[in-house]
Amino acid sequence: MALRNILTDKEPALHKVCKPVVNFDRKLHTLLDDMKDTLLEANGVGLAAPQVGILRRVVIVDVGDEILELINPEIIETDGEQEGAEGCLSVPGRYGLVKRPYYAKVRAQDRYGEWFEAEGEELIGRCFCHELDHLDGILYTQVMDRFLTDEELNAED
Ligand code: CO
Repeated sequence: MALRNILTDKEPALHKVCKPVVNFDRKLHTLLDDMKDTLLEANGVGLAAPQVGILRRVVIVDVGDEILELINPEIIETDGEQEGAEGCLSVPGRYGLVKRPYYAKVRAQDRYGEWFEAEGEELIGRCFCHELDHLDGILYTQVMDRFLTDEELNAED
């Protein structure tokens, strides 16, 4: 187990389109294990491989009772809409107002290459959309309405 360095939005790696994973090997498993440690240490909800400098289509999402590993994920269904505060470990200390679907269903491979589907509402649906955007080099700051002010953030507590 090892912690990886989380890049901030100044780094070019966060603005590139990531390549699909083709080898479901030990190297991938080490990356996933390290990403999990890094996410837990940073107290985040989700993390995408480009945030640790790896330009592959890999994300993890804390769905409460487990940390989902999504390899080569695609959103296959969305429903509804939500608008709320969103943050990113690569944009420390700031939050933006972002519209997302209320519900999202993803199709992805697990660490052994098996396809499966996962779905989520509210925070999880939001997180699926946010993390998958990272794989196409898109940060929430590019799709948000605006940054939240300190007053708005304090009011949410
Ligand atoms: Co992010």
